Formats: sequence, structure tokens, C-alpha cells
Amino acid sequence: MVSKIIPIRETPTAHAKMTDRLRRPLRDLRISVTDRCNFRCVYCMPKEIFGRDYQFMAHSQLLSFEEITRLAKIFVRHGIEKVRITGGEPLVRRHLEKLIEMLAQIPGLDLTLTTNGSLLKKKAQALKDAGLKRVTVSLDSLDEAIFRAMNDVDFPVASVLEGIAEAAAVGLQPVKVNMVVKRGINVDSVLPMARHFKGSGHILRFIEFMDVGATNGWRMDDVIPTRELVRMINGEMAIEPIDPNYQGEVAERWRYKDGGGEVGFISSVTQAFCRDCNRARVSTEGKLYTCLFATEGHDLRSLLRGGKSDDEILDVIGQIWSVREDRYSEIRSEHTAGLRKVEMSYIGG
Ligand code: GTP
Ligand code: 5AD
Ligand code: SF4
Ligand code: SF4
Repeated sequence: MVSKIIPIRETPTAHAKMTDRLRRPLRDLRISVTDRCNFRCVYCMPKEIFGRDYQFMAHSQLLSFEEITRLAKIFVRHGIEKVRITGGEPLVRRHLEKLIEMLAQIPGLDLTLTTNGSLLKKKAQALKDAGLKRVTVSLDSLDEAIFRAMNDVDFPVASVLEGIAEAAAVGLQPVKVNMVVKRGINVDSVLPMARHFKGSGHILRFIEFMDVGATNGWRMDDVIPTRELVRMINGEMAIEPIDPNYQGEVAERWRYKDGGGEVGFISSVTQAFCRDCNRARVSTEGKLYTCLFATEGHDLRSLLRGGKSDDEILDVIGQIWSVREDRYSEIRSEHTAGLRKVEMSYIGG
């Protein structure tokens, strides 16, 4: 009897071991579920561009929850360990907790979400019940006038703080708080934010203002380098660096020497972390981007809707990842900053 020769096909394990051209594996997936947001942060969705006439995506263009879940499962076979749901503002996508429930069924996946916090008080319990593990909330100032000017829709600080408190109360913790620091806008809010969150159990992270997209008028002069912020905070509350939680973590971790908890610094401009970057992003309409600063994505939606099998889609993802060379933050210059990159609200940060 002639035994059947089983072709040597790549197993899921082989895919999970696959690295890009700079030897980086794929471990972390950010999925944007909407390009809409109820805020108009000046550094992300400036009103002059994202005004009444702005054409957001039609519902039929968005990946459905079933399509997102199918993709996530395929990515898990490629080694993904964490899925972060982003937007726009993810909580404006209706019934998001249903998607969370579907994704939470995938074994071993760390499932989290980045939100502006405006709808969190209302939704935290449902998200927790659906299986979400943690949340990260953006908050740029505790000063009412500054925060309202930055979100540009007059949204009050207190509601975001209530959202953070509710998230922690239902067990979505530790809550991380993201503060984008822009020179001349909210530098005076840095110390009040640090004081407020010290000892709260929440982890405040300061983010250097980045040149994502092409509409936020980024200038190097507006970036406050992390080293300046460290000096500022350390001057009042002594801090010291600590080890990362995992390889490829974007935030540099520091802790208060008096036991007041930790703070983080995300220094994508002054200390690029591309060398360990193991992230991919799927946009609202199902395009795969291998860098936050990419100009082009790869259309996965047409594969999902065109009858391709999971194995075929897995192979396509593998091919895309295997030729990846992105390291935008390492080669950033005034020249590259002007490229027509995709917008933050579309790719999800
Ligand atoms: P955890 O490590 O799980 O807490 O998540 P995170 O810090 O990666 O996620 P979050 O959505 O809070 O992102 C924080 C900031 O880091 C945002 O401004 C992101 O745009 C930025 N960021 C996240 N990933 C990358 C990346 O791969 N490259 C660059 N340049 N910036 C990133
Ligand atoms: N630079 C740095 N961070 C930004 N974010 C949005 N736009 C920018 C930018 N241009 C932050 C949001 C959110 C996270 C996903 O990205 O405040 O916390
Ligand atoms: Fe909305 Fe977040 Fe962009 Fe602000 S930073 S406009 S909250 S998506
Ligand atoms: Fe990764 Fe691109 Fe960010 Fe570098 S700039 S860390 S390659 S997403």
C-alpha cells in the first residue's frame, strides 16, 4: 500500500514563530471598531477637518462583529496574545459589549480597550460582564477649561473621572490613564494629574504628541520630551525606573519611591521603540496596517467577504508580516512627518 504523503503545511505554531524582516514577531493586535468619535481633540480630530460635512464610513463598510471575531481567531493562530479595541471612540459603536463577549470566548487572549471615558460610567459593568479585562482612558487635564478646549466639545472632566471610578469599581483594573502632552496647551496640567493619580491605583501615562495622520498640524516644537516630564515630576515626587511588563511595551515604567504607585512615559518621538514593535492594526473597514504611521493598508475585508478560507487568510497575513520593515519612529524627520499617513481616529492609535 502506498501511504499518502501529507504535504508539509505550515502549522499554526510555525506561523506563530514567524517574524518580520527585523526579526519581530506579531503579538499584539489593535482593532478599530469605528472611525467616529464624540470628541474633537485638537491633536486628533480637529474640527476644521472633522466638521459637519466630514464623510465617515457607512455601516456596510465596517467589519461586522462576526468578521472581527473570525479575524481575531486567525490572528491568534499567528501568535497574537492581546487584542486592544480602539476607535475613534469604540464605545460609540452600538452593542460593543456583544463583540467583547464574542472575543472573550477566544482562550488565552488578553482583551482590553482604549476609550475617551465619556460613556464608561454607563457601560463599564456591561463590558466587564461581557469579559473585558481592563480599560485605558484618555484624559488630558483636570483643569476644566483646558480639558474642554482640548476635547473641543465642552465635555466636562468630572464625567471622565466618574467613568474611571466606575471602571475600577467593577474590576476593569488597573485602569490606565493616557495624557497626551502638548507644549503651550496642557503642560501645566502635568503635575496636578500626577498628584491626583498618585496612590489611586490607576496608572497615569504621559504621551509625547505624535505626528500621526496629516491633519493635526504636528510640529517638533510642540513635543515635550519625556526627559523633561521626568525631571518635572521627580522634582516634586521622587520616581525611579522599573522593568517593563512585557517585551515591546510602549510605555517606560517608573514608580514613586514612597510607594505611591507607578507612572508611565510613552516616548515615541524622542526614544523610538520600533526595535521591539510586535503590533499590527486592523482599521474599521478591515485593512491591515503594519505600522501606526503607514500610508497604505492591506485589504482583509475583501478576503473575508470573498470566500477565502481561514487558512488562506492566515497565509496572506503571514506573507504581509514576513516582509514588514516598518520603523517609522526611528527614521522620523520633518520630511517624513509630512507624508499622507492614515489618521489616528481611523487606525486607532
Ligand atoms: P498597554 O501596553 O496594554 O497598556 O497598551 P498601550 O499602551 O499600547 O495602548 P494605548 O492604546 O494606551 O496606547 C498608548 C499610546 O501609545 C497611544 O498614543 C498610542 O498611539 C501609542 N502607541 C501604541 N502603540 C504604538 C506603536 O506601536 N507605535 C507608536 N509610535 N505609538 C504607539
Ligand atoms: N499623539 C499622541 N497620542 C495621541 N493620541 C491621539 N492622537 C495622538 C497624537 N497625535 C492618543 C489618545 C489615546 C491614544 C490611543 O492615543 O489620547 O489615549
Ligand atoms: Fe476621539 Fe480619542 Fe481622537 Fe480624542 S483622541 S478625538 S477621544 S479618538
Ligand atoms: Fe511600531 Fe511603527 Fe510605532 Fe515603530 S512607529 S513602534 S514600527 S507602529
